[in-house]
Amino acid sequence: MDRRFKICSFFITASLLYFILSVLDDHIHNEIIKNVHQTSEHKSSLNWQQKNLESPPGGASSEISEASSSSRDINNMNEKTYANLRTPNILLLSSLGRSGSSFLGELLAQQKNAFYLFEPELYLHRWTNEGVNTNNSINIIRKMFACQFESDFIHWLHSRGFNLCVKSEKIKSICKGDKFCISSPLLAKVCQSESVNIIKVIKMRLSWTTELLMDPNLNLKVIHLIRDPRASINSMSKTQMPGMDPQLSCPSLIGDLQTFPVLQKIFPNKVTSVKYEDLALYPWETAQKLWSFLAEDDKSSLPVPWSTYLQEHTKPPPKSSYYSTKRNSSAEMEAWRDEISEKILLDVENYCGHVLQHLGHTTFGSIENCRNKSLSLYVKSQQ
Ligand SMILES: *[C@@H]1O[C@H](CO)[C@@H](O)[C@H](O)[C@H]1NC(C)=O
Ligand SMILES: *[C@@H]1O[C@H](CO)[C@@H](O)[C@H](O)[C@H]1NC(C)=O
Ligand SMILES: *[C@@H]1O[C@H](CO)[C@@H](O)[C@H](O)[C@H]1NC(C)=O
Repeated sequence: MDRRFKICSFFITASLLYFILSVLDDHIHNEIIKNVHQTSEHKSSLNWQQKNLESPPGGASSEISEASSSSRDINNMNEKTYANLRTPNILLLSSLGRSGSSFLGELLAQQKNAFYLFEPELYLHRWTNEGVNTNNSINIIRKMFACQFESDFIHWLHSRGFNLCVKSEKIKSICKGDKFCISSPLLAKVCQSESVNIIKVIKMRLSWTTELLMDPNLNLKVIHLIRDPRASINSMSKTQMPGMDPQLSCPSLIGDLQTFPVLQKIFPNKVTSVKYEDLALYPWETAQKLWSFLAEDDKSSLPVPWSTYLQEHTKPPPKSSYYSTKRNSSAEMEAWRDEISEKILLDVENYCGHVLQHLGHTTFGSIENCRNKSLSLYVKSQQ
């Protein structure tokens, strides 16, 4: 009798739990459907744009269509570590400039058969009258993942110097420092021959990538990079970089942080986020996590070029060899606390409060507290 009662109550509890879970699930499911639906609503207009872009004006069109017709060379993909990845396309999106995207981008590109473009959206920003918006940035990213480069983009690249725009061992060995050697067909050919195409962007918003993530042909992975905005904006202020007004940049950063969990729900294995502070303090662990994400395999060990790069870049400098790697990184990471001006500190803390909360970082409230290193950067409960 007692046993029967136990079995019976077990079943009642189990079915109740099942019911609650299914209701919860439905709720989450509805949220996702709503979101995907919203993004697919303006997809039709993008398809139209896409079609237009497939036949670009000017003489470059035949070069481009010829280049795009041959697919990536599968035979090239053996033996290289990136060849084992299921994804050929990685987008590194940093919410703000000076957030360590150079370091992380370089790390990503530290493999044979990687083709890496930095900030192609700057072409829209500086070379066209359009500026960077959702439509044109999605289009340009799509085309670059498809290895299609318009002649105007090449002109921009010549003006900028390709070391600032593209990293590719093949291009380096072919062009030997002559930036005018780069042409649409050459870039397309090299891009197509590589296993992985990496693009770093700063002026795009995370929500704009939904379109790209939804495209099964792109098979894209997105890495969202975040850093304490006080550090980024302090660094930008030293070089008068644009984007350093917290009143303008904090809302984009907050928006990206709000978008992230939604995207992660819809595209579980396709988006991840990296915190610069983690990368500086625990470079190996953070790189390993990132690699597991890219490889979709928790047991896949770091590729040798990544390890080499980390060894070279997280070692203490020769002069202060008594510092441990971790102390070096930590001191480096919090150096902004000694440099930031009172105005920038208070402005960023005012407009970016949500971001600091999200990161688990202390809001100092005064320049004295900010400089006082016995006050931890981390809020206690987060440690
Ligand atoms: C994007 O394209 C659509 C359709 O062509 C247009 O309605 C919309 O205004 C564009 N948005 C921007 C920001 O240009
Ligand atoms: C450690 O310090 C050196 C020299 O300042 C620097 O080049 C290196 O990037 C630092 N490491 C990290 C992880 O910040
Ligand atoms: C720094 O903070 C600690 C802990 O709150 C405090 O005891 C100390 O007086 C502060 N130092 C200065 C110079 O303000």
